[in-house]
Amino acid sequence: MADNSTLVLFGARGNLSRIKLIPGLFHLDEAGKLSDAMKIVSVGRQNISQDEWENEIKDMLENKFKGHYDLKVFERFIKRNIYHATLPDDSNAFRNFAKLLHEDKQFPKNFAFFLSVRPSDFAKIVDQLAEENLLDEDKYWRRVLIEKPFGTNLKSAVELQESISKHLKENQIYRIDHYLGKSALQNILWTRFTNSILDPIWNNNHIDHIQITNHETLGVGERTQFYDATGALRDMTQSHLLQMLALTTMEKPKTFSPDDIRVEKIKLLKSIKPIPINEINKYAFRAQYKSGDIEKEGHVKGYLEELENNKSVVETYAAIRLYIDNPRWKNIPVYLRTAKRLNQSGTFISIKFKNKETDQKLAFNNWLVFSIQPKESTYFEIKTKIPGLNDSDLRATRLEGMNRLEHDEKIDAYETLMLDLLEGNQSRFLHIDEVKAAWSLIDPIIKYWSENLEKVHQYTAGTSDPKESEIIFENKSQFWRKGN
Ligand code: BG6
Repeated sequence: MADNSTLVLFGARGNLSRIKLIPGLFHLDEAGKLSDAMKIVSVGRQNISQDEWENEIKDMLENKFKGHYDLKVFERFIKRNIYHATLPDDSNAFRNFAKLLHEDKQFPKNFAFFLSVRPSDFAKIVDQLAEENLLDEDKYWRRVLIEKPFGTNLKSAVELQESISKHLKENQIYRIDHYLGKSALQNILWTRFTNSILDPIWNNNHIDHIQITNHETLGVGERTQFYDATGALRDMTQSHLLQMLALTTMEKPKTFSPDDIRVEKIKLLKSIKPIPINEINKYAFRAQYKSGDIEKEGHVKGYLEELENNKSVVETYAAIRLYIDNPRWKNIPVYLRTAKRLNQSGTFISIKFKNKETDQKLAFNNWLVFSIQPKESTYFEIKTKIPGLNDSDLRATRLEGMNRLEHDEKIDAYETLMLDLLEGNQSRFLHIDEVKAAWSLIDPIIKYWSENLEKVHQYTAGTSDPKESEIIFENKSQFWRKGN
């Protein structure tokens, strides 16, 4: 059980909070994971009453659980929740807020601050918290959780780090990548390191290449402005995809302590070779969706139409090829691809084994796949004989283990991460060195793409990977693995 603490939510009336954070905290309460005296202070710019806030919470829970929640827990949860307005035109707003936290006895003095606000506000809020002596750890712990993105390139990430590290030590900073809270991702490390049969084949002797894929049928939705300043590479590859790569390829940590896991992840991310600048077009491919048909949604607009700016070169599809510069992975390509508005949604890590058979009839591509979502499973594909009189009739057979059974509990990634924050476990959060290594890899591609204003390839919404993306393959035997 975590210590008694006060969780302060900045941006509590925003989308993330409504859909994930407040329902997630409620679920933690229901599961008995919140300490008795724990309080949740929601900070907002609007002057709403406590009653109005309680009604909003009720709506959030109703939307999420559709009446399936325990009313006794609800009463308890409501009592933990306090709304506090810091009005923008009140110069003393922050001081009053700090006074409340320091002096009001109902608030436990271990403070966790969750900054679910605009990235440009991260540093400002940390400065204000420090000024009001809310980050000082003399007697109690003080932690700050920072939403993604941590910077928009290496330079801004370093600046943000410099600014907040004036007031916070590394062990007080929780940089979020919500993929690390997904149970299927946590499973990768355990599968790799508890099944010793995998170790001898987990290297460039046996593996041909790795594909890390995230496909969405969703478009950019209402986030056009954000997305056009971001693009797929920054939005997904820099964070979630590189983290999946790290978990798949890192060396075994000395122990499974948060610090040791991070040490190995950092080492791995730092050992990825930069993409050769003069060959970016062979290592990275970008595209944008144009209008098309999506199952269940029907006809949808293209990205440029949604944006109402047909000059944008920002990518909604990004695929890159990387190499890891260490003995285990030398010369093995790792492909990362992510897209909006494809024909199927799914996140999976596919490992293709080398095909050493020279007799074409016997040659077969074995794959090991970690399916992260929507299905959580691990499977191995082998070739087997089809029963019958014909000896040479073979087919691919899947040896599949479901990592989530129907009756298993579904925990949202944010729940796991909020609990980690309250319990002081940083293993599923990013160390600044991981963030820096990731931006160092991505920055040159973004720079090249943003300077290169020629028309970006367009793919039809609702179709699969554009054929043109295959330009990044190292050789002709490689192809995108479809679906999971
Ligand atoms: C977010 C991105 O970090 O991850 C979104 O900003 C993306 O663009 C989302 O849709 C995907 O997350 P999930 O958990 O739905 O796979």
